[in-house]
Amino acid sequence: MTKFTVRTVAEDWTLQERIEAMYRKLWPRPILEGHPAGLYATPAWETIYQRWPQLQFALLDTEGRLVGAGNTAALPWEQDVAELPEEGFDWAMTAACQAHDLKTPATALCACGIMVDPAFRGQGISTVALESMRMLARAAGYPSLIAPVRPTAKWRYPLIPMAAYLAWQTADGLPFDPWLRTHVRAGGRIVKSCSCSATLSGTVAEWVEWGGMPLPGSGQHLLPGLFAPVQIDLEEDRGLYMEPAVWVVHPVGRDTR
Ligand SMILES: CC(C)(COP(=O)(O)OP(=O)(O)OC[C@H]1O[C@@H](n2cnc3c(N)ncnc32)[C@H](O)[C@@H]1OP(=O)(O)O)[C@@H](O)C(=O)NCCC(=O)NCCS
Repeated sequence: MTKFTVRTVAEDWTLQERIEAMYRKLWPRPILEGHPAGLYATPAWETIYQRWPQLQFALLDTEGRLVGAGNTAALPWEQDVAELPEEGFDWAMTAACQAHDLKTPATALCACGIMVDPAFRGQGISTVALESMRMLARAAGYPSLIAPVRPTAKWRYPLIPMAAYLAWQTADGLPFDPWLRTHVRAGGRIVKSCSCSATLSGTVAEWVEWGGMPLPGSGQHLLPGLFAPVQIDLEEDRGLYMEPAVWVVHPVGRDTR
């Protein structure tokens, strides 16, 4: 496996822009540029670097190249998996930012994003990123790491409801989705799907640009890289996308230092 070190944004502020440049390269545009339109007025993503620079990290190889990155936020959570909401990411981000600003103590860490440069994939580097998140949670005394996971192969099956997709398994009983498999192998427990982890809207022109294809009529459209159809309404000049995800909970273990 490629040798690398973990470095937080608190240790090197220049990492924020490098991590964000990788997001722009790897993430679907609506996820990065869509306007929050769900139950929560989800705070702007970039604010997590200001609120928790010590919880955002880069994986750097021996030549200082960015191999991957991980983003987390700390939030109050009562350790009740039944209470994990349908609004996965939107809820977690909002709850974490509110708690931070009101100085409410956090009790869990939420994984908000993990990515590995395509040139370095398939080496288990994302498992190291997950372990780094567990270490951050352990060091802060949080018993759990929770994650509204975006299953990486879901975009191939945008018409299948996430709950049904979640039930698909390989012959050896692991999740069909490769990224969910990695979570399970790393000790994560799949809890349930969440139907609207991120609810995002945009004008029709924005959706045309993000999707890179014309949208000449109202109705449900399948855009590249998305996990579910986008509802386009020409009269309202609006497109709405509700991204489903999967709640996974990782045990953190005790800090034995
Ligand atoms: C999800 C992601 C971080 C996984 O990174 P990774 O370091 O490649 O993870 P792993 O090495 O554990 O591989 C995970 C699985 O994908 C497969 N895989 C990963 N890269 C692959 C590649 N280039 N070719 C074939 N299979 C690949 C692995 O074989 C493994 O499946 P397995 O169970 O059959 O072994 C990476 O794919 C990524 O950055 N994706 C884009 C961002 C994203 O969607 N992140 C997740 C949402 S937060």
